[in-house]
Amino acid sequence: MPLLTEENLHWQAKAREVAEKFVRPVAKKYDTIQQYPWEIRDAIASAGLFGVWIPKRYGGSGGRDWNVMNLCLVVEQLSRACGGVGVLFAVNALGSFPILVGGTEEQKQKYLPRIARGETLIAFCLSEKGAGSDAGGLKVRATQVGSNWQIDGEKKWTTNGGAADLYTVFAVSDPTSKSRRISAFLVEKGDPGFSIGKVEDKMGIRCVPVVETCFRNVKVGVDRLLGGVPGHGFKHAMETLDLARPGVAAQAMGLAQGALEYATVYTSKRQQFGAPVSSFQMVQKMLADMAMKTEAARQLVYAAAGGIDEGVPNVTKLSAMCKCYATDVAMEVTTDAVQLFGGYGYMKDYPIEKYMRDAKITQIYEGTNQVQRMVIARHITKEAMGLDKLLGQYIPSEEQDVYEGGAS
Ligand code: CAA
Repeated sequence: MPLLTEENLHWQAKAREVAEKFVRPVAKKYDTIQQYPWEIRDAIASAGLFGVWIPKRYGGSGGRDWNVMNLCLVVEQLSRACGGVGVLFAVNALGSFPILVGGTEEQKQKYLPRIARGETLIAFCLSEKGAGSDAGGLKVRATQVGSNWQIDGEKKWTTNGGAADLYTVFAVSDPTSKSRRISAFLVEKGDPGFSIGKVEDKMGIRCVPVVETCFRNVKVGVDRLLGGVPGHGFKHAMETLDLARPGVAAQAMGLAQGALEYATVYTSKRQQFGAPVSSFQMVQKMLADMAMKTEAARQLVYAAAGGIDEGVPNVTKLSAMCKCYATDVAMEVTTDAVQLFGGYGYMKDYPIEKYMRDAKITQIYEGTNQVQRMVIARHITKEAMGLDKLLGQYIPSEEQDVYEGGAS
């Protein structure tokens, strides 16, 4: 695991402060009313946290290209207090990474400084009713009209939709092409023809809106075509997800840590059979397993984030691994935390059931964990080809596997 730098520790501490001062006290309230917590957005912006993944030259505090480690440290601390606030923050990285990986210099100069200051909130519009895991199967259409583009169709599960001022929208710009079918566009909230459709009523992450976004003859200039050249949208979406998935992993790991802390405090206070329940060995085993899994997830998330920032070659695999592992851990740990609270844990008066509800979506969004496992398996299978020369000689072929007598 890379050692955390002074700068990493600075942002981690700032996020912890915001989480304890502004997030935890109102987490239950916003979960109940299911409304966007603008006061928390303001606190995050005042602390300068919206700029941690954005390079300094575009108004942020991040590294040369981006800073995924700082993003993860902040998301972890916010999620420890409220998983909804974790994604409310992280989704701005998901929305803005396409600009960082594929935007023109003008697009970067125009949008990134406002995002870094928290003045512009952004959302990522990839999924559609019929295109979830099969992201390449999307149908929203972008048609060239003179030098402009017209966008038509509907997107599903747009996190931050309605609150956001800017939307990164993936659309089919060339239905005849196989590998250059999709382009990404920057749509602004006030663009005529853009509207918010169904607002979802969710199991968890209830303080952040998840909506359908609708595009009816939305006309944008070429200056809003990401990168200025059509056909690179799918690649930009995949590269974005490689950078953003560690943020989901950090959200999950923060939820696991937060649930573990509540469970540890509760089981030390709760008396049964004349002793704190934390003194019983079956409870100790659960707490120890929860702590080990959470720490293992943390090491993997930090290793992936640090590796991505350093430009290691196997970013896609690392990113999928940390997302899949940490989110599975979060589901296990938050479920066990509810168990440790017993009957009280099932009740909404107690803070713990929210952790379990918030954790569930982390196994689903930004690529289901089934997709992550598929991505990991594809990569290790490819890497295994390089090992064939070394190991292949020790694996007998079917022809060599002949019966030569012996025990019957
Ligand atoms: N980086 C760069 N390029 C990549 C890439 C990567 N990580 N992964 C694939 N590509 C490229 C391939 O090289 C290939 O390029 P060519 O056509 O030039 O050869 C092209 O993309 C197609 O690749 P695949 O054949 O691997 O694509 P596929 O159709 O088999 O799909 C997939 C792969 C991994 C399943 C992908 O569709 C995927 O990640 N699906 C999940 C989508 C997802 O995460 N959606 C969540 C959206 S966000 C959200 O959840 C809502 C929210 O607001 C939080």
